[in-house]
Amino acid sequence: VQVIQFTRGVPARESLPVREVEDASREAIRTHGPALLQYGPSPGFLPLREWLAAAHGVGPDQVVVGNGSLQLLELLCVSRFRAGDRVITEVPTYDRTLTLLRRHAIRPVGVPLVDDGADLRELERAIRERRPRALYLIPDFQNPSGVTWSTAKRRRVAELAEEHDLLIVEDSPYRALRYRGEERPSLLSLCPTRTLYMSSFSKLLGPGPRVGYMVGPPDVVWSLAKAAEDSYICPNNLAHGIAYEWCRSGRLAPQLQRLKALYAPRLEACRRAVAEHLSGVKASSPEGGFFLSIELPAGSSARAVRAAAKEHALEIADGEAFFPEGGGERFLRLPFCALTPEEISEGVRRLAAATRQLQGAALPA
Ligand SMILES: Cc1ncc(COP(=O)(O)O)c(C=O)c1O
Repeated sequence: VQVIQFTRGVPARESLPVREVEDASREAIRTHGPALLQYGPSPGFLPLREWLAAAHGVGPDQVVVGNGSLQLLELLCVSRFRAGDRVITEVPTYDRTLTLLRRHAIRPVGVPLVDDGADLRELERAIRERRPRALYLIPDFQNPSGVTWSTAKRRRVAELAEEHDLLIVEDSPYRALRYRGEERPSLLSLCPTRTLYMSSFSKLLGPGPRVGYMVGPPDVVWSLAKAAEDSYICPNNLAHGIAYEWCRSGRLAPQLQRLKALYAPRLEACRRAVAEHLSGVKASSPEGGFFLSIELPAGSSARAVRAAAKEHALEIADGEAFFPEGGGERFLRLPFCALTPEEISEGVRRLAAATRQLQGAALPA
C-alpha cells in the first residue's frame, strides 16, 4: 500500500516550470551575465526589485529581495526587534516563524483565529495588555489553517496599527493562489505606511531558487538591506536574475493560471472528502492556498490519531507546533496541493478510519 503524506506544504512536482526556467536562465545569463556572476546590491538584483515595485505600485526603495522570504523575517528580527519584544501572531500560525522569533528571544503572543480572521476582541486585549512591537499575520489562505481574513477585519487591524503605532508584518505567499471567492484588500493597501508585506516565488516558480521579498516603508527596507549586507554581502544574484527574466518575459501570469487549474480541483477534492468521511469534524473552508485544517471533536487527541494513521499508511504533521503558547491537541493540517484528487480522497478516508478506530478503542468493552 502506498503511503499518503499530508505532511509538508510544498508545491506539486508537476507544477514546477522546468523548461521555462531553463529558457529564462539562458536568457538571464545572456543579457545580464557579468552582473549575475558578480556581487550585487544587498537589497537584491535591481531589475527584479523594479519589476516587483511596479507590480505593487511602490518605489524600488520600498522593495528588498532576499534568499527566500523567511530569511528576510530573520533580518527583521536582527535589525528592528530586540530580545524580550513581543509580537502578536494568530493561533495557530506558521511554525517556522515561531521558531525564528524564539531564536531571537522575541516572545510570540497568540490571538485565536476564527473563520474570518483573528478574534478581534482578543486581539485588542492582547495589544492593550501585552504591548507588542508588531503583528505577524497571514491574512490570505493561512498556513496552517486555510483561513482568509474578511475585509472588515482587515480594516480594523489597519486602524489598530495606527492607533497603537504597530508594524504589521503581512506574510502572504499564497495570495495569488485563489481558487474561489473574491479577492480581499491586502493590509499593505489598507495601511501602506505601517505594513511590511512579505511574499515569495516559492509557491509560484518553486522554492529551490530561494527568491522571496518584502515591500514596506523605505526606512524598514533600508534596515533589512543593511542587515543583509552584514550577513551575506548580497543575496543570490543569479537566482534573482532568472526570476526576473521569467517575470519580464510574461511567464508568471500563465503559470498562475496553470497552478490554479491544477490546485482548484485538489481543494475541492479535499473539501468533498472531509464532508463525506469526517462529517462530525470542524473543518476550515479555504478559498485558495495549500491548506485545509480540521479540529477533531472534544476528547480526541490529534497525536493518537496521527499514530493510528500510520497503521493506515497515512502520515500527518504534528499540529501542536503551530500553537505559540500551547494547545493544538486536536488540530490537524491537511496540505492538499502536492497530492492528486484520488490520493486526497483516499488519504481523508484513511484519516477517518484511524479516527473511528480510536473511538472504537475508547468504548467500554
Ligand atoms: C506563511 C509562510 N511564510 C513563509 C514561508 C517561507 O517562504 P520562503 O520559501 O519564501 O522562505 C512559507 C512556506 O511554506 C509560508 O507558508
